[in-house]
Order: sequence, then C-alpha cells, then structure tokens
Amino acid sequence: MLLRAVLGLVVLLGVSTSKAKESRGHISVVLLGATGDLAKKYLWQGVFQLYLDEVSHGHTFTFHGAAQTEPERGKKLVFGRLKKLACPSDVLPDRCAVLKDQFLRLTEYRQLRTAEDYASLSREITILLSQEGLEEAGRIFYLSVPPFAYAEIARHINSSCRPRPGAWLRVVLEKPFGHDLRSAQQLANELSTFFQEEEIYRVDHYLGKQAVAHILPFRDQNRHNLDPIWNRHHIERVEIVLKEMVDVRNRTGFYEEYGVIRDIHQNHLTEILMLLAMELPANISSSEDVIRSKLQAFAALQSPEITSAVIGQYEAYNSHVREELQKGQDYFSRTPTFAGVLVQLDNLRWEGVPFILASGKVLDERIGYVRILFKNRAYCAQNESAWDSERSQCKLKQVIFYLGHGELNSPAVLISRNLFKPAMLGGSWTEVQDHPGLHLFGQPLSDYYMYVPVAERDAYSVLISRIYHGKKVSFITMENLLASWGFWTPLLDSLAGEAPRLYPGGQENKHLLDFEMVGREVSFVVKETVQVMNAWDEQTPDKYKTIQSRYRQSQLITAWPEELISRLASDIEAAAMSAIGCSGEFHLALSGGSSPLALFRQLAVYHYGFPWRQTHLWLVDERCVPLTDPESNFGKLHDRLLHHIRVPYFNVHPMPVHLNRRLCVEEDKGPELYANEIAALVANASFDLVLLGVGIDGHTASLFPHSPVGLEGSQDVVFTESPVKPHQRMTFTLPLINRAKQVAVLVMGKGKHDIVTVVSRVGHEPQKWPVSGVNPSSGQIAWYVDYEALLG
Ligand SMILES: *[C@@H]1O[C@H](CO)[C@@H](O)[C@H](O)[C@H]1NC(C)=O
Ligand SMILES: *[C@@H]1O[C@H](CO)[C@@H](O)[C@H](O)[C@H]1NC(C)=O
Ligand SMILES: *[C@@H]1O[C@H](CO)[C@@H](O)[C@H](O)[C@H]1NC(C)=O
Ligand SMILES: *[C@@H]1O[C@H](CO)[C@@H](O)[C@H](O)[C@H]1NC(C)=O
Ligand SMILES: *[C@@H]1O[C@H](CO)[C@@H](O)[C@H](O)[C@H]1NC(C)=O
Repeated sequence: MLLRAVLGLVVLLGVSTSKAKESRGHISVVLLGATGDLAKKYLWQGVFQLYLDEVSHGHTFTFHGAAQTEPERGKKLVFGRLKKLACPSDVLPDRCAVLKDQFLRLTEYRQLRTAEDYASLSREITILLSQEGLEEAGRIFYLSVPPFAYAEIARHINSSCRPRPGAWLRVVLEKPFGHDLRSAQQLANELSTFFQEEEIYRVDHYLGKQAVAHILPFRDQNRHNLDPIWNRHHIERVEIVLKEMVDVRNRTGFYEEYGVIRDIHQNHLTEILMLLAMELPANISSSEDVIRSKLQAFAALQSPEITSAVIGQYEAYNSHVREELQKGQDYFSRTPTFAGVLVQLDNLRWEGVPFILASGKVLDERIGYVRILFKNRAYCAQNESAWDSERSQCKLKQVIFYLGHGELNSPAVLISRNLFKPAMLGGSWTEVQDHPGLHLFGQPLSDYYMYVPVAERDAYSVLISRIYHGKKVSFITMENLLASWGFWTPLLDSLAGEAPRLYPGGQENKHLLDFEMVGREVSFVVKETVQVMNAWDEQTPDKYKTIQSRYRQSQLITAWPEELISRLASDIEAAAMSAIGCSGEFHLALSGGSSPLALFRQLAVYHYGFPWRQTHLWLVDERCVPLTDPESNFGKLHDRLLHHIRVPYFNVHPMPVHLNRRLCVEEDKGPELYANEIAALVANASFDLVLLGVGIDGHTASLFPHSPVGLEGSQDVVFTESPVKPHQRMTFTLPLINRAKQVAVLVMGKGKHDIVTVVSRVGHEPQKWPVSGVNPSSGQIAWYVDYEALLG
C-alpha cells in the first residue's frame, strides 16, 4: 500500500543514496480518524501546512490517513478532502501547487483496526526506509478519535508500531481528557502503561490560537514595562471570555454529560488563566520551567465555592435533549450552557484580583478575548475635554488579547496607548496603523496600539508544527491536567444540584446573564429569573423566616441553612462586641467538623466590622494529625477563616497536638500545656463563647459516647479516642465547656435528624450522649438547628 509513498519519495528526493544520507531523517505522520470532522475541517490542512513549512528543512515525510472505514471508501473520503487543501497566502501559488501535488503523492489512506494492521503499517515504513536508505527520525500519531478508543489504539501503537530505538514517538490526543478528577486520573494511568509522559501530546487547541500563543512571548518581551504593573496593585480585573452563538444541537449526547464548565472552562479558559497568572520563568523557551511555573499558579488557586459561579441554560436546550436523547416530558436537564466563574489566586501578586471566566452558547455574539483592565490611579483635575491627548492617564488602560471573530474578525493584540508602546519581536505580528472607526471595550481603536499576525494561522496548524518541533509547552501535561480537574471538580460537584437560570438566547438575553462580583461571590445582576425551573423553591413558604422556640428548655433558632448561618454569625459578632465592651477581649472557642465551615466563610466574607484584633481564637478539639493535614481542624480554620481576616498571630491558639516532632504523646503533656495557656489568658477559664457541633452518635467536641474520659473531673483538656479515624483527639472537657458564658450548638443536615430527635427527649446522660451533658453552669446555651435536622 505504501507503493504510492515510495514512488513519491523517489520522485521527490530524486533519491540518490548519497542525498538520502544527508536527510535529517524520516518522519511518518499517522492521522487516525482521518475521515472525521476535525480532520476534514482542520487537521489535514494543518498537516499540509507542516509539509509546506518543513519540506525544505531536511526531513522527509510520509503521511498516513487512517480510520476504521474500509480502504476504497476511506481513500475516496480522504483524497476528496485533500484535493480541496488551501494554499496559504504567504506561499506563491505556483510553488504551492507543486508542493500540494507532492503532498498528495506522499499520502496514503489505510484501514487501521487490528493489531496486524498496525504491525503491517510499521513493517511497510521500515521497508520503505531501508529501500530509500533513510534513517527514521520519528513517528507522530494524531488520535482524532473518541476517548473510549484511546486505550485500544494506544495498545496497538505501543506493541506493534513504535519507531526504531533512538527515534521518537509522539502520540497526540484530543480532549475530553476525563470528566472529573477521578476519570482523568484513570485515563492518565491507563495511557501511562503504554507511553512515557514525554511521548504524549494532549491538545488544547486554544493554546494554538495565535493571540493565546502570544501571551507568554508578549509578557516576556515586555517584561520591563509589565513587571511593575502586572499585579494586584495595578490590575483591576481580568476577563477571559468565550461567547458563542451556536447551540449544541446534534451534540447533546456529549453536552448533556459535560456542560459548559467541563467543555470550556476546565480546559481553554483555565489554560489562558495560567498563562496570565503564572510567574514568568526566566526562559520561556524552557518547557520544564514554564510547566513548573504553571503548576505553582495552579497551587495558588483559591478553591471556588458554589457562590463563585453563576450558571444558565438556553431555553431550547431542554427540548433538544428530550428530542435527541429520547427523554420524556418530565425530564429536566440541569446542564449549564452558560457559566460565569470568579477565580482568585492566593499569592502576593494576585490576591484580591478577580479573574472572570465566562462562556456560553446561544449568546448575542461570537467572540473570544482576554482583557486585562488596569486600575485608574490618576485623579484628573481637568474636565474630559482636556483628555483627548492619547496618552492621558485619565482614560481606560487595558491590554487585550483578541482571539478572533467579533468585530475585528482577526486575532489581535491591543494595548492602550497610555500604558506603553509594546515590543512585538520576532516579526510575526505587525502594527495596524489605520484604525477603522470601531470602538472596542470602551475605547476607539485609535486609543490602542494594535497588532495583528502577519500570516493568520489556524490553531491546529500552529499546534501540529509544535508537535513536530517537540515543543511540549504548548500541550497539557498530566500534572497540569490533574491540577485543573482538581480545581474544578469540587465546584462541578456542588453545582450539580443547582438549577441554571434559563435564558431565551441571542439579543433577547438582554441583561439576564449579566453578573456582578460582591466580595468573593458572583451573582446575577437581575435578581428575578423569568421562569423558575424548580417548583420546589416556590412552594416552600417562608424560606427565609427563622423560627424561634425551645429545645431542651433552651433557646432554639431554626431556619434554612443559609439564614441559620447568617444568624449565628451575627450573634457571634454581637457576643464579641459585648465581651469586648466588658473586658476588652473576646475568647471564642471553635469546633471542628463540617458544619462550622460555612460559618467561618460567612464571618470571613460578610463581617467586615468584626473586632478580630481583640478576639482570641481557640480550638474546642483537634485531631492528632499535623496542622497541614487536610483532616486538621486548625488547618480548616486557617484556610476558611484565618487566611481571610486580620487577627493578630498571638491571638490564635492552635491545640498543641504536635510536640517534639510527634503527635499526641502523653508524656509531651499537650493537654496540660493548652489548659495552662487557657488559665493564663482566659479569665476564670470561662470562654465568652464556645461553638459546638453534634455527631450522629451524640458526640460533641471530641467527647465520644461510652467513654467516661472528659465528662467530669478537674482536667480542662484531655486526650480521647474516636471510634472513627483519625482516632486520637485532643479536646475540651465538659467541665471546661460548662464554665463558658455562652455555648452555641450548630446542627445541620438531614443526617442529623435522628440524633436531634433523640437528644430532644433525653435528660442529662453524657455517658450515652455526651452532648446532653452540655449545660453551662452560669452561662447560656443556644441551639442552632436547620430545618432538615429538626424536621427531617
Ligand atoms: C508496550 O510494548 C512493549 C514492547 O512490545 C511491551 O513489552 C509492553 O508490555 C507493552 N505495554 C503494555 C502495557 O502493553
Ligand atoms: C443536525 O443534524 C441534522 C441531520 O443530520 C442536520 O440536518 C442539521 O443541519 C444538523 N443541525 C445542526 C445545527 O448542525
Ligand atoms: C532556554 O531554554 C531552551 C530550551 O530548553 C534552551 O535551548 C535555551 O538555551 C535556553 N536559553 C537560555 C538563555 O538559557
Ligand atoms: C470643560 O470645561 C470647559 C470650560 O468651562 C467647557 O467649555 C467644556 O464644555 C467642558 N467640557 C466638558 C466635557 O464638560
Ligand atoms: C471570675 O470568678 C470570680 C469568682 O467566681 C468572679 O467574681 C469574677 O467576676 C469572675 N471573672 C470573670 C471575668 O468572669
């Protein structure tokens, strides 16, 4: 079958053996899925472009289109496409016609299904090379196939189709790379049994878009001007936006499983975010340095909360799903087709700078851009008519990487003239001088320095060239992929239960999808949705009304979780104010567990006036793990609260579970140390407020049922054993808790309904239900129980 190719090579190289010896080696490009859509639309053109670029640089090539389609039909499909290959504008038509003819002769179609098919491909390449006296340089396998086919193809390539030792193998994969962290991990593990990581090229075609590919070079070439301003002091916000007008008809099977965040945010937008946010390595040509820098930026991402995102769904989506996936009339998809996500980084460069990642289908326009908006720091003493000088510091300052489409309809880089005149080295970008009367992002084009590519290249052409050159930096490494899924998976999980806002589509969306940032959260600007998707919300009366009543003869506050947390946070602030009014200090002891996490967040985000300077933070209990362990109560307190507030370090009192480089050893006397610290700082060891939770077994703090430890006696702090891992704990005792001026018990979730019911009836039986022993001797106790825990 390679006869064609052999002839082609002979003709092309005019092969004399001596000439062949001068070749830098032969490269076989195998395109799997050669008859598919992506191949038709982009890949063949990209492969042809590679040939045009590289034919005179020493390598010889053969191209092998492969698919499952039987040979006759496959050949017809592939060559039908190849005849339509376009000549790029920067190649002379005559030369292009000759090269296209050569390209066709170097290309074959073959059916690749069985192990034998792969072995015979490999055999024929080897025979060809020995006939021509060529050395093999490497093989590129571009897998434009659905992910479920990866494993089998990978097996065949590894076992039957590797190049000779010393030549390289590059296997190119297209997304989706998994559906969440676990599936991505699984896929990665599977592939790693067949290939080395350096052999795998995971494509995110956005990294091949010219404006995106230029982000790092732009930052590099303009270090001098950007270094002082590429940070939170100067940047107001960053927008990374991809808007589409199309719907997902004919793709709903895929889309229903993925949704916009998996389809766009997790890969394209995140990759762009990283290029902007990463510390710029000294040498941006070094893939290792860039990748290391990128992973550091991933590590600095703040985990998004459910309130970091707004989601929408175009109205016709649901009927598309019902129709294409044969679902009944009662099927309501919650798959978002629009999402706006606020991402923030926790490092000195970016702290507090909002990165807005937005994308959606059926919007009003097709456009992709990255916009870095700088803070306006100047106060302008003269009125606007004096601002016309193009360098006025009063005008907007922004840098825009324009990906394409939209009004410019071409990739472009735009820099406000009042920032600086950028260096655009390398000759691949050229300045546009005559500006059409367009306005972009609030400024006439004449306010910008504007650059467009000298030759427009499709993203796939760019990437295929980079695969050939082995530039791994333009591809997604495994660590990179897992870091991205690790970031997005928790948000995806928590959004899974959310109803997206419905939008009509196109111009009619009006302001329905506009969203705004409030603190660390985003929310739609227009609060009322046109249509409520989930009738449940409407039917639930008094959603935000808190009921007050009694529980165990004490105050009971009950509400939906959000309202309950917000009420508790306010009560804590009131207690703090009152304690500080009396003694100048507020001693607050906090429990571990999951319920208080929402409270910490509430305190961190909404209580700007909280008197943290006078507040001492103590822990009610702690697990015997290092403070950096994810199980550590202090670790959680740190991440959710301490990290976000300004509390003096000396007011923070973690439990000493880690002493002398070991965890919770009796002879290190951790409990005594903590008790002494309390005695020294807290008057009468009487806390102003102790926050407790309740376990489904009735435990509170780390006082567990059926164990007498900590229920009475003179000790204030003790070690206990938990029935669940990690077993060892350090905890306040009941006597210490009961000396508090106020105790708040927070209980949330349906899972707690049974224990709430039991505890409501029992008397003082701390051996069986430790929480029933909480009864401050001269203080108050209040129960904060959400509806689900109270009513089931
Ligand atoms: C990959 O190929 C090599 C050489 O044929 C073989 O020894 C190895 O078992 C293969 N790996 C897998 C996972 O099949
Ligand atoms: C969907 O597929 C049908 C049938 O193949 C075709 O007629 C239609 O144009 C496609 N619609 C879109 C939006 O691609
Ligand atoms: C930058 O990295 C590239 C690729 O590793 C290397 O070839 C080049 O020499 C490096 N440049 C400098 C200045 O170190
Ligand atoms: C600025 O002030 C000048 C002088 O009073 C006035 O003529 C002009 O209209 C003002 N321009 C604007 C934009 O307010
Ligand atoms: C400490 O206890 C003593 C005696 O019970 C009492 O008089 C005093 O008010 C208490 N101090 C505080 C700050 O609660």
